[in-house]
Amino acid sequence: MKNIALITGVTGQDGSYLSEFLLEKGYDVHGIIRRSSVDYRERIAHLEGTPNFHLHYADMSDSMSLVKLVGKVQPTEIYNLAAQSHVQVSFDAPEFTADVDAVGVLRLLEAVRTNHLEKTCKIYQASTSELYGKVEEVPQNENTPFHPYSPYAVAKLYGFWIVKEYREAYNMYCCSGILFNHESERRGETFVTRKITLAAARIAQGKQDCLYLGNMDSLRDWGYAKDYVECMWLILQQEKPEDFVIATGVQHSVREFTQLAFHHAGIELKFEGKDMDEKGICVSVINPANEHLIGKTLVAVSEDFYRPTDVVNLWGDPTKAKAKLGWNPQTTSFEQLVEIMVEHDMAKVAAEDVASRVRTNLAEYLEKGIVK
Ligand code: NAP
Ligand code: GDD
Repeated sequence: MKNIALITGVTGQDGSYLSEFLLEKGYDVHGIIRRSSVDYRERIAHLEGTPNFHLHYADMSDSMSLVKLVGKVQPTEIYNLAAQSHVQVSFDAPEFTADVDAVGVLRLLEAVRTNHLEKTCKIYQASTSELYGKVEEVPQNENTPFHPYSPYAVAKLYGFWIVKEYREAYNMYCCSGILFNHESERRGETFVTRKITLAAARIAQGKQDCLYLGNMDSLRDWGYAKDYVECMWLILQQEKPEDFVIATGVQHSVREFTQLAFHHAGIELKFEGKDMDEKGICVSVINPANEHLIGKTLVAVSEDFYRPTDVVNLWGDPTKAKAKLGWNPQTTSFEQLVEIMVEHDMAKVAAEDVASRVRTNLAEYLEKGIVK
């Protein structure tokens, strides 16, 4: 039987890597896209036009679109990655977050049942370490109690439980990957890691003066997204549907991530002060052209990036995933991850510079009539 995957959230960080992974395995990959005023889908642009890659309009808030699409595609595997995935934004848009991240999961499960695909279609739910929230034990594993601590986490908790309920009530192969933070050069630019690597690159190239962050004491277990999508697939290849924690088992603070990112951009930082008064001061640089940065504050704290309730101690225990999925959580180390992201963003920022010079020159040449 042909493997047919339906990916919701195909335009996101994980959706793009998972599409590449499944196409390489010979799957027919179908992805859900939403109507947007901008048609360019940066993360999957390179896949569009690939014969086995198909995109369809639908929305997690629209049951009919999901029922029709599941019926048309007849998937053998569904990966539900679609979500309003930004924790801080969930405080500003809690109802939308609940609609997509909680009820959206129910709509998708019902779309499978409506099309009578319970016996033939396996479903992966993108669950999250945010369920542990105000953590009740460190590190966290599959048996750690949940204590969600944001509208996003509460919505995702519903998603987790409804998947478990449908597994038990209807004997469906549906399960959750409880994934800890995973990052990459495709990470959204307002998540803390990408915000830091882009800022380090811009500051090193004279395009930004200072990076403003929120809680730098916050601790995360950061992995590489490209390694994590393999687990999503492995979770659906088991004999029995089960939930898994996916994490590296190594924890770092936002401050440590910042210091290492700036190091890879050629800037050494020393942190001074506490809480709102903390500053990252430049103590040395590799590029002589950046010597004017020495002694300057390049990282400062802004209240704007603090959350009403913040999850500050995430640290996953991947023992079950290692044993049952045979997955290696250390394929890409924290140090390699930071290096990959900074290297990418140094090149991106440099290219933006070239592109804007070309635009400026073109405008000037047009004005002078040099080009017509
Ligand atoms: P992401 O980059 O923010 O991508 C989210 C995707 O969901 C995008 O494709 C987005 O489409 C789509 N989407 C949002 N609302 C939708 C709607 N109403 N209908 C259809 N599609 C919708 O997120 P990610 O980092 O790849 O994460 C993938 C999933 O894993 C999410 O469910 C997230 O909550 C979960 N997760 C992520 C992490 C992590 O560290 N990355 C950890 C644990 C769990 P547009 O492009 O149109 O906005
Ligand atoms: N975004 C952001 N911006 N976070 C900051 C900042 C800042 O300027 N300064 C400090 N932080 C802290 C946040 O308070 C949080 O404690 C931590 O950095 C990580 O924030 P994010 O990168 O926004 O990610 P997240 O952990 O809240 O959520 C991500 O990981 C979850 C898995 O644990 C998202 O990908 C979620 O969708 C995912 O479920």
